[in-house]
Amino acid sequence: MTTPILQLIFLLILSPLRQLPPSKPATPTRIQLPHPTPTTLSVTDFGAIGDGIHYDTEAIQSTINSCPTTPPTKACHVNFPPGIYLTATIHLKSNVVLNIQEGATLLGGTKLEDYPKEFNRWYVVLAENASDVGITGGGVVDGQGLKFVKRFNERKNVMVSWNSTGACLGDECRPRLVGFIGCTNVKVWNVRLSEPAYWCLHIVQCLNTHISDVSIYGDFNSPNNDGIDIEDSNNTLITRCHIDTGDDAICPKTYTGPIYNLTATDCWIRTKSSAIKLGSASWFEFKGLVFDNITIVDSHRGLGLQIRDGGNVSDITFSNINISTRYYDPSWWGRAEPIYVTTCPRHSSSKEGSISNLQFINITTNSENGVFLSGSKGGLLSNLRFINMNLTFRRWTTYPGGLVDYRPGCQGLVNHSAAGIIMEHIEGFEVENVNMRWSDYQNEPWDNPLDFRPSTVNNISFLNFHSALYKQMK
Ligand SMILES: *[C@@H]1O[C@H](CO)[C@@H](O)[C@H](O)[C@H]1NC(C)=O
Ligand SMILES: *[C@@H]1O[C@H](CO)[C@@H](O)[C@H](O)[C@H]1NC(C)=O
Ligand SMILES: *[C@@H]1O[C@H](CO)[C@@H](O)[C@H](O)[C@H]1NC(C)=O
Ligand SMILES: *[C@@H]1O[C@H](CO)[C@@H](O)[C@H](O)[C@H]1NC(C)=O
Ligand SMILES: *[C@@H]1O[C@H](CO)[C@@H](O)[C@H](O)[C@H]1NC(C)=O
Ligand SMILES: *[C@@H]1O[C@H](CO)[C@@H](O)[C@H](O)[C@H]1NC(C)=O
Ligand SMILES: *[C@@H]1O[C@H](CO)[C@@H](O)[C@H](O)[C@H]1NC(C)=O
Ligand SMILES: *[C@@H]1O[C@H](CO)[C@@H](O)[C@H](O)[C@H]1NC(C)=O
Ligand SMILES: *[C@@H]1O[C@H](CO)[C@@H](O)[C@H](O)[C@H]1NC(C)=O
Ligand SMILES: *[C@@H]1O[C@H](CO)[C@@H](O)[C@H](O)[C@H]1NC(C)=O
Ligand SMILES: *[C@@H]1O[C@H](CO)[C@@H](O)[C@H](O)[C@H]1NC(C)=O
Repeated sequence: MTTPILQLIFLLILSPLRQLPPSKPATPTRIQLPHPTPTTLSVTDFGAIGDGIHYDTEAIQSTINSCPTTPPTKACHVNFPPGIYLTATIHLKSNVVLNIQEGATLLGGTKLEDYPKEFNRWYVVLAENASDVGITGGGVVDGQGLKFVKRFNERKNVMVSWNSTGACLGDECRPRLVGFIGCTNVKVWNVRLSEPAYWCLHIVQCLNTHISDVSIYGDFNSPNNDGIDIEDSNNTLITRCHIDTGDDAICPKTYTGPIYNLTATDCWIRTKSSAIKLGSASWFEFKGLVFDNITIVDSHRGLGLQIRDGGNVSDITFSNINISTRYYDPSWWGRAEPIYVTTCPRHSSSKEGSISNLQFINITTNSENGVFLSGSKGGLLSNLRFINMNLTFRRWTTYPGGLVDYRPGCQGLVNHSAAGIIMEHIEGFEVENVNMRWSDYQNEPWDNPLDFRPSTVNNISFLNFHSALYKQMK
């Protein structure tokens, strides 16, 4: 990808990371950089057994703690040779890169006492306030998520919740897999993150994060096993990721500060919820986000904005994306919408955020339901553009349709017949080269291309827009 904005972001992100050595024999330009050679320590030299039965926590932590800290600081690689390393939470520190080699698995413990007291530190691997930290090596970090299933159910598993001590309340009290909190220059590459019990890769209040060649696998029926959650962080690049999981795949959120400059490219995604979701936590701004060259298959929702808490969203581009969305059990958010843009107050007392300058370019969709664009009275959608889109509508599951999904909060699920694009509270919408195709293999007529909620849509233009039935092979 060589658009100027991506180049800029690559430079922004890569330059501070040069002291991290690449995982494989480097390209010549890389290796000639005048950096000190990294220290390499092996966890087995510190007593790690790697049999998957005995805890190796202490050995791993002492290896990390033995990395040099005095300036000039050097990168320190902590090596995991092939084996299974069962562990309680391990804490990374500045300049440390976990090098989990191919054939090695870092296996998260499944007991409450394996994790720190404060539930916001429940991770298998946690880096806090560190710089130049990362994970690589070709191996696996595994959270044993299936051991947290209380009752298996094809629609949605019922999960354990560690809420009896009072440290965490509710039914989502489970450890996340990998967390970087308040870090600078984070790099996660060439690693597989598997079976998180809760969110998988969590980036919080970080600056300059580079995630590449990461594959994420979570159980398709387990709730809350999000792929990558990016929270209150600036300058994030995600590229060449492969995410197959139950809950949201790439999910930027704002709780305590804004999200600026996030780019995700060259990814493949399958999820029972949203493939890309902005929100639903949306207290601050989202600005300068680019999603390019992404394949989304069999998901409950494709590109989603669920703005509920007063944060404003602007300058977002989605380009070169293929999406297939279908219905699943309605307990999962999503109604097979390929594109879903909503802003409404979560509760009657919540603020309303606006959404402006959204572009969708070169998008192909195959879906069981249409596009939903819904602003609200105090939270307008403005300046949206749909350019070069082929939207095919076809039913292939037997779940009933006929519902519009405002969750979380707002009006919840509302009966409303399907349409190619439903529009509410929009100011400025440009549609150009957009083609809708409707399967004729339907019992009832459903080829309603456009549904304007009256009086709330202004300044819209359609250029080269087409909608028609097509003959579906039986
Ligand atoms: C990280 O920094 C934050 C903010 O300064 C602080 O509240 C937190 O205690 C720090 N965490 C650690 C482990 O030092
Ligand atoms: C604890 O979690 C269970 C679900 O596993 C839930 O039913 C219960 O209400 C939760 N209790 C508290 C105190 O949060
Ligand atoms: C992101 O940038 C904004 C604007 O400069 C700043 O207020 C915020 O603190 C930054 N966040 C981080 C995590 O660096
Ligand atoms: C985001 O990127 C733009 C350039 O595209 C840059 O001007 C801005 O400073 C960046 N924001 C942050 C918070 O780094
Ligand atoms: C798009 O991403 C795929 C990986 O999902 C990659 O193989 C392909 O080269 C990318 N295409 C472009 C034009 O960059
Ligand atoms: C989308 O599908 C078209 C046609 O099958 C293909 O040429 C293109 O590479 C796909 N792009 C992505 C991002 O999957
Ligand atoms: C969103 O924009 C409105 C209008 O400019 C502004 O009043 C509000 O403070 C913004 N919200 C946030 C969270 O910055
Ligand atoms: C949409 O389909 C038309 C006709 O088949 C094709 O020319 C165009 O490239 C397609 N656009 C996209 C974005 O795939
Ligand atoms: C959209 O697709 C066309 C034809 O494949 C290509 O020339 C153009 O660069 C694409 N636009 C973007 C923004 O990627
Ligand atoms: C929605 O439709 C269902 C099935 O047709 C019906 O049972 C239900 O009462 C409707 N709900 C509302 C709020 O109209
Ligand atoms: C109408 O919307 C377009 C963008 O879709 C914007 O460029 C234009 O300024 C708007 N015109 C008016 C009169 O608001």
